Amino acid sequence: MTSSDAIGGYFELALPPASGEYHAHALRLQSARAALLALLQHGRPTAVWMPWYICDSMLEPLLVCGIPVKHYALDSRLGIAGDIPLAAGEWLLYVNYFGLCQQHAEQLAQRLPRDRLMIDHSQAFFAPAVDCLANIYSPRKFFGVPDGGYLLTSLDMPAPAQQDTGSAARCRHLLQRLDGPPEPGYADYMAAESSLSQQAPLRMSTLTQRLLGSIDYAGIQAQRRSNYAYLAQQLAPRNQFQLPLDADAVPLCYPLLLADGSAAQRRTALARQRIYLPAYWPEVAQRAGVPPFDAGLAAGCLFLPCDQRLQQPDLDRLIAALLE
Ligand SMILES: Cc1ncc(COP(=O)(O)O)c(C=O)c1O
Repeated sequence: MTSSDAIGGYFELALPPASGEYHAHALRLQSARAALLALLQHGRPTAVWMPWYICDSMLEPLLVCGIPVKHYALDSRLGIAGDIPLAAGEWLLYVNYFGLCQQHAEQLAQRLPRDRLMIDHSQAFFAPAVDCLANIYSPRKFFGVPDGGYLLTSLDMPAPAQQDTGSAARCRHLLQRLDGPPEPGYADYMAAESSLSQQAPLRMSTLTQRLLGSIDYAGIQAQRRSNYAYLAQQLAPRNQFQLPLDADAVPLCYPLLLADGSAAQRRTALARQRIYLPAYWPEVAQRAGVPPFDAGLAAGCLFLPCDQRLQQPDLDRLIAALLE
């Protein structure tokens, strides 16, 4: 008997009809890092090349498996700087940064053995899969869902047998945010995030899969693109990054790299006005041997939101507060 066999009783949360998931043919897991862990456990590479500029959560699966990490540097357009001496048995992971680096990802598949290339699209939910070993997605960076990861891989891998049962407990901040301002739910958000670390790969929960089935994907893509274009129109002259928005790219955020070292101060000033920016990834600068450009990205860059909740008046408020 399954939960859907029951008749009557209390209702579940009312949701729009499920019209389908965006990555309907992917393997479903509880997070992007779990997808990487499952891949590593299955394929056992001798080492993995990772960018210096990546969050700790994607290094965790390598530590868990005891697989050596080799680091590569980025160039000013967030492509890989220089050539990679990828030895037999080694894999490489590249991040589709901010949803703006699909072209780099596709060029890498021409340059490197594609059966040893993984693309991390955690910041690029809508990016099409590159023809290579693996494409990994993390939906909750783009939508209000508690967890989840998608994996498209050329390896013949089953989905994990055991299913995640923790999603309902990870929904408090999502409900709180629907009910009012973000501040009271922040601790719950942090707790939900930390509950995803150090986990064996699990199959995506029924709840998360149901939530991902009823999202207005087309509307979200259009709103993000339009918000990004507006921010770019206003801020491009101040931006050290030259990252064009490809015709079908859907960005995570508008990354604004400032030359004057004022990013941290501006981020704090914005938070005082209740404009909250993420920090991608302060931990990078602490790593021994990290090159200066990669180390400086977190401190030098502001990651301005362009998500589907924002309309032009919100962006005007954001820009005015930023330029104060
Ligand atoms: C580029 C990138 N990859 C992977 C992850 C991890 O995703 P998840 O939290 O779904 O494991 C993150 C988030 O921290 C990320 O920013």
